[in-house]
Amino acid sequence: MVRHFLDIHRLEPADLRSILDDAHARKAARKGWPQGRADTDAPARDRVLAMIFEKNSTRTRFSFDAAIRQLGGAAIIANAGDMQLGRGEPVEDTARVLSRMVDAVMIRANSHEDVERFAQASTVPVINGLTDRSHPCQILADIVTIEEQLGPIAGKTLAWIGDGNNVCHSFIHAAPLLGFHLNVACPADYHPDLRDLARGGHAVTLTSDPRDAVRGAEVVITDTWVSMGDSDYEARLAAFEHYSVDQALMDLADPAAIFLHCLPAHRGEEVTDAVIDGPRSVVWDEAENRIHAQKAVLAWCFADA
Ligand code: CP
Ligand code: NVA
Repeated sequence: MVRHFLDIHRLEPADLRSILDDAHARKAARKGWPQGRADTDAPARDRVLAMIFEKNSTRTRFSFDAAIRQLGGAAIIANAGDMQLGRGEPVEDTARVLSRMVDAVMIRANSHEDVERFAQASTVPVINGLTDRSHPCQILADIVTIEEQLGPIAGKTLAWIGDGNNVCHSFIHAAPLLGFHLNVACPADYHPDLRDLARGGHAVTLTSDPRDAVRGAEVVITDTWVSMGDSDYEARLAAFEHYSVDQALMDLADPAAIFLHCLPAHRGEEVTDAVIDGPRSVVWDEAENRIHAQKAVLAWCFADA
């Protein structure tokens, strides 16, 4: 069986835990090393990763490129608009062709269904690098960051404030698998997809009041109010007016609570300068951890090959 990494809820809990443990171990083992030096075991030696981007990216693009190099492999990066995909070549045909040329494919796509179709036709592992529906690589890095700061995530309470979006969905998927609780505070019109909420079960509590969500939370998380592909900018700004993570909101959380944001951030909208640049913010560790988490994902995908 080809090991695709499409969504957190499709993993066995033991696989998810082993990916997270590997990320922690790989990070610790190369402390102080230059970024281009390969890990001692180099599990992607002789392997090539293709990366396809239908949407903009800074962190995902650079962290996956750094990750495959640190595993001993190489990357080929393309914007979908420069490929025949952009002129209507079917997703399935692209997957069949790339399966003959590379050892794994990472895709950032507008439509989640396109990534599913790509994986169906691919004979090499396919990794979801963000879709309209989910962002599983991001929340792996977030959980690595939380565990570095606070210890094992099981039993912790996390608060998601703002849009019930792709990143929120992936946190929902992870909650029952890892045994943490997720309070989600969002306006009624911007709640998470009901299918995704159902996957969270009793591990997720939905509210419209950010203050209810953060009380007792050890982790406070937010994201942009306007994701790539969203068009209703003005309506969103109005709907999310009371969902900004500011100091007053952080003060209602656990006294040792940390702040996460997947970035890019919009200071003055979903988060204030004082919070994102303040002592509880771990957003730069979170961004770095994209490399370590994705190395563990790639190593897991290749382990079955
Ligand atoms: N957080 C994240 O995925 O960032 P990019 O859009 O820059 O890749
Ligand atoms: N929710 C955001 C995440 C960006 C990394 C988006 O999809 O644009």
